[in-house]
Amino acid sequence: MKVTIVGAGAVGASAADNIVRRNCAEEVILLDIKEGVAEGKSQDIMQTAALLGFDTKLKGVTNDYLSTAGSTVAVITSGIPRKPGMTREELIGTNAGIVKTVVENLVKHSPDITIIVVSNPMDTMTYLALKSSGLPKNRIIGMGGALDSARFKYQLATKLNASPSDLNAIVIGGHGDKTMIPLIKKATWNSIPVTNFLTPEEQAEIIQKTMVGGATLTTLIGTSAWFAPGAAVAAMVESILLNQNRLFTASVYLEGELGEEDINIGVPVIINKNGWDRIVPIALDEEEKQLFKASAEAVRTMNNVLG
Ligand code: 2OP
Repeated sequence: MKVTIVGAGAVGASAADNIVRRNCAEEVILLDIKEGVAEGKSQDIMQTAALLGFDTKLKGVTNDYLSTAGSTVAVITSGIPRKPGMTREELIGTNAGIVKTVVENLVKHSPDITIIVVSNPMDTMTYLALKSSGLPKNRIIGMGGALDSARFKYQLATKLNASPSDLNAIVIGGHGDKTMIPLIKKATWNSIPVTNFLTPEEQAEIIQKTMVGGATLTTLIGTSAWFAPGAAVAAMVESILLNQNRLFTASVYLEGELGEEDINIGVPVIINKNGWDRIVPIALDEEEKQLFKASAEAVRTMNNVLG
């Protein structure tokens, strides 16, 4: 099966690198508008094949959408990343135009495609991708929750001195410093509630560090992160290609679920060959419900800017 990644910046290249290492696709096309960049990064990654042992063919192209024809999945990473001090929301003006054009080009050549949106502000760009693609809602997925949940597990693992893979924890809501909701009361360490081991102060600290996880890296590095975003994308792509039915939180279109409609926002979903197959019902307590409502309001305000 074929995967297209649009945008050969740091996140796009990291996604390509992670996907080929997983050996789950036959072919990956990395597309960028800047002459030579996708070609160069693809060659560099392909030169690791003999060392890492994968057979996926990665090819870089400059704005050539014809070569993306017949893709099962596309990942959109195009647009400008944040600089230190910027919020994801400040990127909307520039990125909306880019995302809309990319979506139209992808759908033209691959009418049955599933699209994973990474570009920020991610929930709004996912909503825009859905509205401008004409694709069924299940074929448009926003990546944020998968990344934010991995960052939440990192914070929990660090505090508990635990293995990250022994943790079960999700982040729902918007993919924004103030809108994401790490569900700490539902998080477990191999089925044991993590709250058994953490003081209220420690829990608050973990939640806060998770929420500003991306911003912290932007301050340290000078641009937006790419290793964890690329790995999160690859895990989702693999679940689609191999029909794995993995549960991720992802930004999907709600039609009344959790009390919200006409919005893309992070909720638990099953990801398989149908794109996001179904929303997994989750019982939120009063506090979590209020946080989700406020998060949806903030995302909706951002969506209104599109108009
Ligand atoms: C992040 O690092 C890419 O939005 C993304 O949080």
